[in-house]
Amino acid sequence: MIERFAAPQPGSRASTSQSLQPRQTSGACRCRHRQTPRLCQASASSNGTGQHIAELVDGRTVSGPDLSVQHFSGLKLPNPFVIGSGPPGTNYAVMKKAFQEGWGAVIAKTVSVDSSKVVNVTPRYARLHPSSEVQGKKEVIGWENIELISDRPLEVMLDDFKRLKEEFPGRVLIASIMEEYTKHAWEELIGRCEEVGVDAFEINFSCPHGMPERKMGMAMGQDCEILQEVCGWINKAAKVPVWAKMTPNITDISLPARTALQTGCEGIAAINTIQSVMGVNLDTLRPEPSVEGYSTPGGYSSKAVKPIALAKVMSIAQLIQKEFDGKADLSGIGGVETGRDAAEFLLLGANSVQVCTGVMIHGYPLVKKLCGELQEFMQQHGFESIESFRGATLPYFTTHTELVRMQREAIDAKKRKRSGLAKDDEWSGDGFVKEAESMVAN
Ligand SMILES: Cc1cc2nc3c(=O)[nH]c(=O)nc-3n(C[C@H](O)[C@H](O)[C@H](O)COP(=O)(O)O)c2cc1C
Repeated sequence: MIERFAAPQPGSRASTSQSLQPRQTSGACRCRHRQTPRLCQASASSNGTGQHIAELVDGRTVSGPDLSVQHFSGLKLPNPFVIGSGPPGTNYAVMKKAFQEGWGAVIAKTVSVDSSKVVNVTPRYARLHPSSEVQGKKEVIGWENIELISDRPLEVMLDDFKRLKEEFPGRVLIASIMEEYTKHAWEELIGRCEEVGVDAFEINFSCPHGMPERKMGMAMGQDCEILQEVCGWINKAAKVPVWAKMTPNITDISLPARTALQTGCEGIAAINTIQSVMGVNLDTLRPEPSVEGYSTPGGYSSKAVKPIALAKVMSIAQLIQKEFDGKADLSGIGGVETGRDAAEFLLLGANSVQVCTGVMIHGYPLVKKLCGELQEFMQQHGFESIESFRGATLPYFTTHTELVRMQREAIDAKKRKRSGLAKDDEWSGDGFVKEAESMVAN
């Protein structure tokens, strides 16, 4: 069991005067060329098949750059790829498969104390395909679900957790939990999960559909006052690290993220799904996915959500750097299907990357490809560890006003260069020939 570090006191790490500084190593590529990542042209290494598949033993790569990650909470993963809460972590059989294939950690499907209140419907998914096919196959770019949290009894899920921890003691199993606005229910859920040995909690403050009338999921995660109180209960009860999983269905995700970190959560996971209506069937005129001709807004995931997820992760990473001295875990989620997708989340400051829909589309062996592709990216730049490039892109975000100022400066500099010397006083002895050339028209 990983012990929790001392929870930050509310506001204790806050420093409004501290501006966002580039990490010590700046945004420069850590490769031999010492160029900015964008400019680095170092050649890619390939395993000769064109496919970059890593060999994994207990989730560890056997060769190539080191993919292991150490979170600030103490959670250590053999690679940064984590099964995101959902169908890929729904029972013992699938979670076992995830560990066997080499996933860095598994987050189980969200559980609550009383599963009898959870009733799922079918169909519960609807996919979005682009108009063209790739190699004769319909690609999936968007995925809507109206699936609730786990409908399996808590005792059954706890037995699964226990068995998994007995069989894979060295691997990280995270329980995803969600409850009503009731202190004792949270305490009971946390206590029972810890008893069977889970390594950490992810709090589902973000399910976009389901039970808003019971103030669960996203309804709780959008309300910072309730969040503060509930996080207080959770962090008092939990002995293992706690990540708060945030909803993107909010204007400023840094508000609930700040509340969660100030009340003692060790980390933030983002994003859960985006509220969506997949479409309307133009033959039946009914919404999709349709259950007895009716539907309800669901949660959107897969490739299409990645840009939104990156923006939310970037904003939380900035918050963690500015106000929490960089000392909090950040798990990025949304549309990851390749090692290069993952590299983008890591470059924006995430410590780990979760995959849910990608596993539903490509299966559990995907992790080997993810690791291989991430290693290939690292080799291109000469990065030897995740930490050597994590957050490297973050300093290159600024305000729009700054973009305008920088562009104006660049244009002025170009103009000055093009028009040569403004006054005869500016001619110099050493640069005389170049100065003359700068003013020649042909
Ligand atoms: C079918 C389905 C069920 C999900 N169930 C849960 C859940 O029980 N708890 C949770 O926190 N997130 C749940 N999610 C959200 C995912 O964990 C993830 O945050 C989201 O789908 C974005 O990542 P992705 O594009 O890799 O799927 C679910 C997603 C899908 C597609």
